[in-house]
Amino acid sequence: MSLGVVILAAGQGTRMKSALPKVLHRLADKPLLGHVIDCARALDPAEIVVVYGHGGDAVRQAFADHDDLRWAEQAEQLGTGHAVAQAMPQLERASQVLVLYGDVPLTRVETLRTLIDETGQGFGLLTVTLADPTGYGRIVRNDGGRVQRIVEQKDAGNEELAIDEVNTGIMCLPRDALARWLSGLSNANAQGEYYLTDVLEMAVGDGFDVQVHQPASPVEAEGVNNRLQLATLERAYQQHCATQLMLNGVTLRDPARIDVRGRVEHGKDIEIDINVVLEGDIQLGNNVTIGANCVLRNVRIADDVMIQPNCVLEEAIVGPGSTIGPFARLRPGAELVGGAHIGNFVEIKKSIVGQGSKVNHLSYVGDATIGAGVNVGAGTITCNYDGANKHRTVIEDNAFIGSNTALVAPVTVGAGATIGAGSVISKNAPDEKLTLTRAKQLSLNWQRPTKKNK
Ligand code: UD1
Ligand code: CA
Repeated sequence: MSLGVVILAAGQGTRMKSALPKVLHRLADKPLLGHVIDCARALDPAEIVVVYGHGGDAVRQAFADHDDLRWAEQAEQLGTGHAVAQAMPQLERASQVLVLYGDVPLTRVETLRTLIDETGQGFGLLTVTLADPTGYGRIVRNDGGRVQRIVEQKDAGNEELAIDEVNTGIMCLPRDALARWLSGLSNANAQGEYYLTDVLEMAVGDGFDVQVHQPASPVEAEGVNNRLQLATLERAYQQHCATQLMLNGVTLRDPARIDVRGRVEHGKDIEIDINVVLEGDIQLGNNVTIGANCVLRNVRIADDVMIQPNCVLEEAIVGPGSTIGPFARLRPGAELVGGAHIGNFVEIKKSIVGQGSKVNHLSYVGDATIGAGVNVGAGTITCNYDGANKHRTVIEDNAFIGSNTALVAPVTVGAGATIGAGSVISKNAPDEKLTLTRAKQLSLNWQRPTKKNK
């Protein structure tokens, strides 16, 4: 049997009160629609068709590099049934169709797999039972408990409104029968729309026995209509990530105060303090401590690393036994070989810092190669940019750079060299020597001016 997935994403999302189409609003690391597409892909379908409408160009553009997607335009939003009908011509190989929603981001792959397997060539429906079913389509069953039809809130009578089992919208149906049912839809209802839900009654009429499946949690079927719901689902997602981390052996000082926006791989005995944001691909070794208020994006951190509070690390590699921060910034291309000390108000970009080297206070190190055992004094700046081009600074092993040195690149400081504090080094400094550029210190007899009396 071959599966086709139709993702409905044509709704306007007016309640977001946004210029951005609703499905492009982000949850964790990607747009709402991105979550649904990834989930669909994990089912390994033959085809995925996204139905787009309002703001469609922006939606298509956001996923331009996903060349496995097919797109169907629904110029006017005439209802969910009409939306699915727009996708049908694009389903060429599918014999079974799964309908998903671009604004329902947290459905689990396992839930859908079960629904698909249980459905086979039949009709499968995902439902949830809610304490407050207001607004949803209600599942109407007969005395034998068999599902008969779905009635929308606005079309329901009092008896139907009391039903607490509701339609999530997610369903799985046979392709050819679906095409037939869709062509028979009418919009003679309270909203004047072509309801996808009406195909269920037709299926029952055709002798189908509807398979109903419920997800482990109602959150899997929750959609986003406004920013409050977006935040609620973001929290649910974050809670799930935090739970997974803790169950996998990571200590979180407060699981309500961590945000994961990507994938985290980790070793043993990690401790993460409050307000930490982990983005992109994060790799943490064993015995890594992350202090409060740190943001890490696409980083690889080796064993025994301590990151103190208020650090920002992006596309950086941190070798074993290094200490970073507080208030340090590692920018893309920063690589600490190991045992490094990077202290407060230090910025490192596109530079290698050798084994055991220290840059402890108030420095900028950019486009540099620093050897092992180097001490970079407070306030040292690599002047890497001449206004047009970037140039490299090389500091060889065991060099000592005095405080407030400006290293005007391209320049090399030799092994074991010492640079006197306050120097402007624009020529290479030889190995083992003390090099300094400094005006001689003078002491003169001098009278300080005094204020004139008026
Ligand atoms: C729909 C279901 C309802 C279910 C609820 C779950 C129908 C008729 N009703 O109602 O039974 O309980 O979802 O949330 O299906 N969309 C389009 N084109 C359209 C209309 C909608 O792409 O012409 C998309 C929307 O972008 C949205 C989804 O379909 O992602 C659902 O549409 P919405 O209008 O929110 O349906 P509901 O009235 O909530
Ligand atoms: Ca809805």
